[in-house]
Amino acid sequence: MNISVVKSLDNTYDTMVLGVFENELLSTTEKILQDSINYLVNEEEFKGKFNQIKSIILPTKEKPNKFIFIGLGHKDKFNDEKLRKSVAKVVNEGNKIKSKFMVLEPMGINEGISIGNATRIISEIPILVNYRFDKYQEEKKETTVSEIKILCKNEKDWDIMVSACREGSTLARNTVYARELVNEPANVLLPTELANRAKEAGEKYGFDVEIYDEEKIKELGMEAYMQVAKASENPPRLIVMKYFGDNENKEDILGIAGKGLTYDSGGLCIKSKNGMLNMRADMGGAAALIGAMSSISEFKIKANVVGVIAACENLISGKGYRTGDIIGSMAGKTIFVGSTDAEGRLTLIDAVHYLIEKENATKVVDIATLTGAAGAALGNAASPVLSNDDKLYNNMRKASEISGEKIWRMPCFEEYKEQIKSNVADLTNSGGHPGVMTAGMFIREFVQDKPWVHIDIAATSWADKKYYCGIEGGTGVGVRLLYHFVKNMRK
Ligand code: BES
Ligand code: MN
Ligand code: ZN
Repeated sequence: MNISVVKSLDNTYDTMVLGVFENELLSTTEKILQDSINYLVNEEEFKGKFNQIKSIILPTKEKPNKFIFIGLGHKDKFNDEKLRKSVAKVVNEGNKIKSKFMVLEPMGINEGISIGNATRIISEIPILVNYRFDKYQEEKKETTVSEIKILCKNEKDWDIMVSACREGSTLARNTVYARELVNEPANVLLPTELANRAKEAGEKYGFDVEIYDEEKIKELGMEAYMQVAKASENPPRLIVMKYFGDNENKEDILGIAGKGLTYDSGGLCIKSKNGMLNMRADMGGAAALIGAMSSISEFKIKANVVGVIAACENLISGKGYRTGDIIGSMAGKTIFVGSTDAEGRLTLIDAVHYLIEKENATKVVDIATLTGAAGAALGNAASPVLSNDDKLYNNMRKASEISGEKIWRMPCFEEYKEQIKSNVADLTNSGGHPGVMTAGMFIREFVQDKPWVHIDIAATSWADKKYYCGIEGGTGVGVRLLYHFVKNMRK
């Protein structure tokens, strides 16, 4: 998909998109277009209600011969989210009427959306809408829309629009990259392959990637991580990604840990057949992190970021850890294994400790498909977040407002801490209630005094069915969120 900003148009495009606010009649000097609008309003009751869409195809070879009218709803209720949905609807309609080359004007810029935000959104959504996962199928799922031009009417907006277009389309491509990683089956995306893909991204976007094998992981003392990994014949890989873009504040280092379970069977606490069905997606945090590192590096954001993925599989074998075991961790704390299926937090605590001790992280974020309880709490509408620092949390909230990936802060009440205490070890991983908080607060035990934000994407990183800007499968959630978080961190 090609998306660009243009100052003027020639007649090579086939489809013109027109946004219409509710009860705001469009008028144009072009007779055929005005006739079409009158027809739509009178015969089809097109009133510009939000999400209303009508297309007209003219029986002529002259271009453009396709017109898509998208209802934007009431002017004073228009916002970023409605723009995202409208653009998605237009692209889906374009595919339906076999549009190839479409022209759009930024919508809603007189209704409080900045020209930059509007352009970024229009450059982002079409790429997300047209993503398909059909590499393993002979019959490809066709999408026709392949070129979009965004019209710049005001010379003074040009620079802003061009850079917003580059930002939006790059973020979308990196979100699609994350989706692809999530969708890859676990027999293809082994921990070693996830490491290869991170390396590839690093080479393409210019960040440093180091990959450590079992021997090095053991040498580092990452005991909790190794306990999860050891049942599998496929070796774990510790993936360390580094981007240093702020030389003036060398000591200020953000560490991000992404959960990278390339498969989660539950271990001896084996999951049900259905519970396991999509567990190749248990590396959604890792995928988000790789996509975000790529974007941060591409736009040379002024920040220092180290990303860590403790990649492994949670399988079953005679070599595996058991329920009831007492295991160690890199930080030295002992853990009673209440469930071999609460494996994510075991890999994350070693990743977080590594970030603080070996990479000198001064702030910590972790992003993980951690608990089924995340979906019970907020559904797939938002990711629950925990934090020990209002300022860092507020920056995440702002990033979420920009990216449109909703988050919701949950409390770290001390009452919940009782649930992760053990009679025989320093902590237990068995969870308890409420699941989102006990899992997050387990990780909090390892962040020392560092400002920390924890994002549970268990319910948001996978779509059970087609949704407005994507197909069933990985959503790539977190790529845009983490990027905007890092971009705005110093402000
Ligand atoms: N990877 C799962 C969480 C998950 C569940 C992600 C559903 C996506 C969809 C995690 O490792 C897990 O198994 N969590 C358990 C924790 C429990 C054993 C304390 C859960 O949520 O049931
Ligand atoms: Mn699990
Ligand atoms: Zn898991």
